Amino acid sequence: MHDIGNCVNRVDHAHSGAILAYSILKDMGMPVEERTEIMMAIGNHDENTGTAISDISAALILADKSDVHRNRVTNTNLSTFDIHDRVNYAVTDADLEVNEEERKVILNLTIDTKLCPVLDYFEIFMDRTMMSKYAAKYLKIWFELVINGTKLL
Ligand SMILES: [Fe+2]
Ligand SMILES: [Fe+2]
Repeated sequence: MHDIGNCVNRVDHAHSGAILAYSILKDMGMPVEERTEIMMAIGNHDENTGTAISDISAALILADKSDVHRNRVTNTNLSTFDIHDRVNYAVTDADLEVNEEERKVILNLTIDTKLCPVLDYFEIFMDRTMMSKYAAKYLKIWFELVINGTKLL
């Protein structure tokens, strides 16, 4: 639901999505405190305009920003891939692990470096990585990023 604003426009989709979600959840009978919290989380999930402002918002950020994988790529023509297609396609395995004991979440990625250098991942995901780090900080837990078995954060 957090990306529902994309049906209006990609630009400012977090804000249009927040308003849309609020209205839908209201129609479904959700109590005002709950739908307001969800609205605020959706409205703050984009790395260009938002940040973690609540536990739910931090959880949404951690889940959303970890969503990188080959199966996200709908373009089937490799020769027309842009950098987003290439990086997502190169991620053959992605796993977000919650380690309660050590109070950390670990994003484990396997990137096929024949398709994309790890640096390309950071070129497009640096803002999202930092947003995840701050969302974890909000929850008073650690965020770790492991790519091809190497801990990078
Ligand atoms: Fe989004
Ligand atoms: Fe998203």
